[in-house]
Amino acid sequence: MRCYLHAFLLCVAFAFFSLLYVFSQLAATLEDRDEWRRVDDGAPRGSGHDTGRILRKTPGLAGLGDREGGLDSERSGSDAEQHKDERSHLAVVACGSRLEETLTMLKSALLFSRKPLHFYIFAEDELHDGFRDALDLWPRTFQAKFTFTIYPITFPKENAKEWKKLFKPCASQRLFLPLILKEVDSLLYVDTDILFLQPVENIWALLSHFNANHLAAMAPEHEEPRIGWYNRFARHPYYGKTGINSGVMLMNMTRIREKFFKNDMTAFPLKWEEILMPLLQKYKLNITWGDQDLLNIIFYHNPESLYVFPCQWNYRPDHCIYGSNCQQAEQEGVFILHGNRGVYHNDKQPAFRAVYEAIKKHPFGENMETSLLQPLEASLLTTTNSYCGRASHLFTKRLKQSISSVQREKTMERTSR
Ligand SMILES: *[C@@H]1O[C@H](CO)[C@@H](O)[C@H](O)[C@H]1NC(C)=O
Ligand SMILES: *[C@@H]1O[C@H](CO)[C@@H](O)[C@H](O)[C@H]1NC(C)=O
Repeated sequence: MRCYLHAFLLCVAFAFFSLLYVFSQLAATLEDRDEWRRVDDGAPRGSGHDTGRILRKTPGLAGLGDREGGLDSERSGSDAEQHKDERSHLAVVACGSRLEETLTMLKSALLFSRKPLHFYIFAEDELHDGFRDALDLWPRTFQAKFTFTIYPITFPKENAKEWKKLFKPCASQRLFLPLILKEVDSLLYVDTDILFLQPVENIWALLSHFNANHLAAMAPEHEEPRIGWYNRFARHPYYGKTGINSGVMLMNMTRIREKFFKNDMTAFPLKWEEILMPLLQKYKLNITWGDQDLLNIIFYHNPESLYVFPCQWNYRPDHCIYGSNCQQAEQEGVFILHGNRGVYHNDKQPAFRAVYEAIKKHPFGENMETSLLQPLEASLLTTTNSYCGRASHLFTKRLKQSISSVQREKTMERTSR
């Protein structure tokens, strides 16, 4: 009997220590996941701030995609979901006073898109409630077209201080998106000062134009080398003739995570998560535009990996400030407007500001021809004393088409009901 008791106790002790081991392993993996450090280093405020928590999921989203002519509206949502994710995945990083600007960007994405969208909003903690409250107030018909997730700003723990100190707190976050959003295949990153003038799915479709080497797509920094910045001033390598602009960046993140990148620091190529820190260390004294410069260095060494799309996908004041120099926009109009240098909020480029104001003021759901396009055209007429104002027919060329196709679709829906 004693002998059985001993054996039993031994088993209990063994089971106890096994459990202890399992728990310690579990704890270790949980700590690993915590290696991303929040930028404010503060304690999380309640459970509402979990990284990556889906804040709102709208049912039946996947069924919304191809509704043109109502042909596909019968297809069941789950069926579509299993086969293909139709959404365009849009990411933005917002800090400081950028709440309203970011919401206007998201609004422009929603106004003209037909296919559903998912927004990945990286923001300082103080802005989270503002985003959530505003997005929850948007009309139901628009809410049915998008889902969103709000994330804190995080950096790898070891170097968090370095990254934060180097640029403004938000600036280098985009470099880490492939590492933070590990489960996401592809992503369109845009700056907060972007305005979509046509459906987001049009730029999303460029992913399918990638060849086997392409893993990211961006527009050139300049069309005109005589006013280019990199070719005149840069003290580091940069892509192509005039460098690239990272304000609109389409990424196949699966490929970014898999790729070994050639570089000028090690004899062997490095993974994305390995290359960023050495690059920063080597070039930190020589870079001016922060993470955009690092991207230029990376694609200088790996040019075959970059798909360059033309300037009308990332149209900036540089394209018109001394006269129009974006040829593709001359032909097809501006697809995506990028009001960098604060031009939506100052008086330097009134034509850019007019577009921003028109989209911001347009009440959701009202007729876009009368409550967006007409007021915009009226205010653009007052901007013709500037070069960009004289090119402002390019700002509305594609926008007009986008608006009339949305309005046409609405009319069809109404008459088919
Ligand atoms: C991204 O690249 C991966 C690996 O090549 C591929 O399987 C996937 O389909 C690509 N995603 C898109 C949206 O093209
Ligand atoms: C930084 O710029 C200086 C001055 O142009 C140059 O001599 C140096 O080689 C640059 N450093 C790197 C790492 O390229």
